Amino acid sequence: SVINPKSLTDYDALPRCLIGVDNTGNIACIIEDVADSMLQETLAQHGITDITSASVVVLKEGEFIMPGLIDTHTHAVQVPNLGIGGETELLTWLNEYTFPTESRFESLDYAKSAYPDIVRRIVNSGTTTCCYYGSLHLPATKELANVVHKAGQRAFVGKCNMDDRKKNPFYYVEEDAKTSMRDTIAIIDHIKSLSGSDEPLVHPILTPRFAMSCTVGLLEDVGEYAKKHHHLAIQTHISENRDEVKQTLEIFGGKSYADVYDRFGLLRHNTVLAHGVHLTEHEMKLIHKRKAGVSHCPTSNFYLSSGMARVGMLLDYGVKVGLGTDVGGGYNPSILAAVQHASTASKMLSIQGPTEEEKCKHGHHHHHCHHCREEAQGQGHGECECGGPHKHGDFTNKKLTIPTLLYLATLGGAHVCCLQDRVGSFEKGKAFDALLVSVRDETGNPAIWGVNGERDAHFVPVHEKPRDPLRDHLERFLFCGDDRNIRRVIVQGKVIGGSGN
Ligand code: GUN
Ligand code: FE
Repeated sequence: SVINPKSLTDYDALPRCLIGVDNTGNIACIIEDVADSMLQETLAQHGITDITSASVVVLKEGEFIMPGLIDTHTHAVQVPNLGIGGETELLTWLNEYTFPTESRFESLDYAKSAYPDIVRRIVNSGTTTCCYYGSLHLPATKELANVVHKAGQRAFVGKCNMDDRKKNPFYYVEEDAKTSMRDTIAIIDHIKSLSGSDEPLVHPILTPRFAMSCTVGLLEDVGEYAKKHHHLAIQTHISENRDEVKQTLEIFGGKSYADVYDRFGLLRHNTVLAHGVHLTEHEMKLIHKRKAGVSHCPTSNFYLSSGMARVGMLLDYGVKVGLGTDVGGGYNPSILAAVQHASTASKMLSIQGPTEEEKCKHGHHHHHCHHCREEAQGQGHGECECGGPHKHGDFTNKKLTIPTLLYLATLGGAHVCCLQDRVGSFEKGKAFDALLVSVRDETGNPAIWGVNGERDAHFVPVHEKPRDPLRDHLERFLFCGDDRNIRRVIVQGKVIGGSGN
């Protein structure tokens, strides 16, 4: 059984699918509707004859394969702080809990003891591609990259740029912009050296932590460097918390938070912007124009009382969106928690409707007209009576559906980190980055949820629509699954973790 995301609104649920993986870990073929008795014949028909029975894995009842989860925003360095400090908000939380925790990684010995456990936990949560922030320290962040490389996870690893002596604490700040750039170039070179001649799994990423942590001089230097290295990814935080937005605009001036990054050339196709809770529609348009992506981190946004990002509106503006755990702003390293909280946030936004400033004087939201809610979805209706663009959004102020949530956790995340040609869904030529999920518990005996054949054999659910058991399995996994259900975590065709043995 295979789950394969297709678009924001659709995925395939294929109950008897054969995925062939070549010895480089790429997908060689995807064949639908293969009968058990025809396995060898089907393989032979596709020219696959050099197969030993040991290299054929037939899934058991209650198991399915899906693309690995993509965490577009997390701080490996904050895992030691998990679940602490959630009664505060961002700026207090950074100063009282986070910076002290991160400063411990000044000790390479500490980094060496902590990072292997941290990365193992994230891998076993089903994250096959991860965008990591390390600390500001070069040796510890090299160690993080080494550990991720050794684990076989696909990742981006960044060393934080933070040189502003006024905004950062005295014990956790870089010497100056020059030192920050020197160490940035050193971590990039180190990460590039890890893969040798192989296709790299671990990539470098520029990580100006957020505007406020950097001097103007450093943001200029990072922007200059980025301009010379078009393929180098960039990650930072944007518009997470009201006080942060206010202070950022006080320090840097300009039209908006997004404008501050744009000024330094930091908004582009391979920029990952975490949060975006308080983005204006003007900023959403700019982010779309620059082709940057947003990492939606709802667990963190609830935990630190930051607010609810308007994901539906971002999608209607055509902005690329993926999910992030934002550990330790988020208290759960699993993207499944992000899926659940993204769903909850969208439901709350859907009952809240447009905010006062989003409404025109007629009370319409220009992306979701209340008058013609029932009419053709997603179609423009020309001019609104107030002269504004009167357009139906497919997503604004609506609940995120299961296909959309699945997409955000996989293919959407892949687009945000510009890896959509390699991962995020199953396609011939893409890497086989996958999870083997079981909806049964470790003993294979009574299921964790109501999928025990014996017990539920006589249960006929009363639903208006006939249900697809595989789609039910996926939905249940997304909402009540955890790392016990993730039996194998596979990256580039290799098993790198999971609860199975
Ligand atoms: N903004 C700047 N640094 C951080 C961080 O570590 N976590 C979160 N959530 N927001 C930030
Ligand atoms: Fe963060």
